[in-house]
Amino acid sequence: MVNDKFEKVADSYSKMFYYSPYYMLLAELLEKYLGQACHVLEIGIADGIVAMAWERVRQESGNKRPLTYFGLDPVERMVEVARERSDTMNIKFLPSVGTISEAIQISQLVRDTPLDGLIISRVLHEIFIQHDLDHEKLFFDIKRILDRKHPKIVVLGIVNRFIGLTKDETERFISEQIKEIGHGHDPAKEYVDQSLLDEFMIKNQYKIVDQKKISQPLNGFDPSPWGETLTVYELS
Ligand SMILES: C[S@@+](CC[C@H](N)C(=O)[O-])C[C@H]1O[C@@H](n2cnc3c(N)ncnc32)[C@H](O)[C@@H]1O
Repeated sequence: MVNDKFEKVADSYSKMFYYSPYYMLLAELLEKYLGQACHVLEIGIADGIVAMAWERVRQESGNKRPLTYFGLDPVERMVEVARERSDTMNIKFLPSVGTISEAIQISQLVRDTPLDGLIISRVLHEIFIQHDLDHEKLFFDIKRILDRKHPKIVVLGIVNRFIGLTKDETERFISEQIKEIGHGHDPAKEYVDQSLLDEFMIKNQYKIVDQKKISQPLNGFDPSPWGETLTVYELS
């Protein structure tokens, strides 16, 4: 199964990434745009890293508003670790096993609860690969949730597509990425195109209210072709 690579890192995922500036920025955006939210859903929670980062910002800013945070991930061990973490959190973090396609059916609670926010962080390329690099199939998976739940705020964090490396540079990029995170992707082919994603969201009545870019250093590349874009979309 595609998710073997995440099974292997389930017990170390947060240790690898927790202090990355990406999560700090994401948590700040979540607090800014969803700080008043009552119910959010995150797709692809891994071990709960995003919920944990947001929880830290909520505590720092003294936000005690009750929040129910539904979370899905197909990797059972990730969900187990996330559940263990949920006991230590002040928010009601409810991780379940499931993929984006099952997001609405997964529990009656998610089906019946209006969602203020939808969060998908560094997961879309995985779904894109599972859909044989077909943007339309990926967008269909997101649209299913938008059409059913109409979340007021959608926060999407994607790893940037990067076009322009030579064949040798692409191979070097992949091998450096394997050293960093255990697996690598072709930056021109296997990441989602931000402009297509924006176009899709705008077509679905969402407007961009914030967009931030982060660059990840990658050994031997300057500037680094590896980076992320975080976008906050609001229902018009
Ligand atoms: C790179 S990790 C990102 C985890 C976390 N959201 C973050 O920002 O660090 C990708 C996660 O997506 C999950 N995933 C893979 N395919 C998925 C799918 N079809 N639906 C939902 N999640 C999926 C993986 O199990 C993994 O935990």
